[in-house]
Amino acid sequence: MYIAFEGVDTVGKSTQIRELSKRFPDILITKEPGGTELGKKIRTILLEEGDLLARSEVLLFLADRAEHTERIVRPNLHKIILSDRSFISGIAYAHVYDNIQIDTLLQLNRFATGNLFPEHIVLFHIDEKNLKERMNKKSSDNIEMRGIEYMLKVQKTMEELIDLLKIDYIKIDATEPVESITEKIFSYIKDCRK
Ligand code: TMP
Repeated sequence: MYIAFEGVDTVGKSTQIRELSKRFPDILITKEPGGTELGKKIRTILLEEGDLLARSEVLLFLADRAEHTERIVRPNLHKIILSDRSFISGIAYAHVYDNIQIDTLLQLNRFATGNLFPEHIVLFHIDEKNLKERMNKKSSDNIEMRGIEYMLKVQKTMEELIDLLKIDYIKIDATEPVESITEKIFSYIKDCRK
């Protein structure tokens, strides 16, 4: 069962994945970009080195996703897989950054993943005020440097995309206490297994 955690930076996806991994014994934790050896190198190029054309950036994220899907996700579908990000980030960040058409991005992502998309999504939502506060407390990578307006548009695009594709999801308010969020996601995952 392939579950992706989605939302803009600072919403607490990785904290929740870490907490949930303590509750399920045979779980696989992974992420995009950087879930494979090649992916780690691609991640460094994308987030730290930079100055890429928008299209080159998309293609590198897609290469990471192809490796990740085929080498990590597909062979483990019998397990619970919790992935920090997926093609939803891939489409939303690229669409908002360079206005690349959603249909084009969908086709590219179908190609990269061999049509394997997450069955369920845990979607985090954060309001502008809290996002600003959290972003001010940390240093930004190349993508986060695009700013709050960009991230709010990405967040909106993620929600629209999940609706459009009719993927089963739970929406989480990222400002709730960590423990209560963990409880909600824990129940959601248990329900997904039924
Ligand atoms: P993170 O692993 O800390 O969330 O950082 C990954 C960054 O890359 C984050 O800002 C979201 C961005 N991203 C894209 O722009 N496109 C993608 O396809 C993915 C997976 C992430």
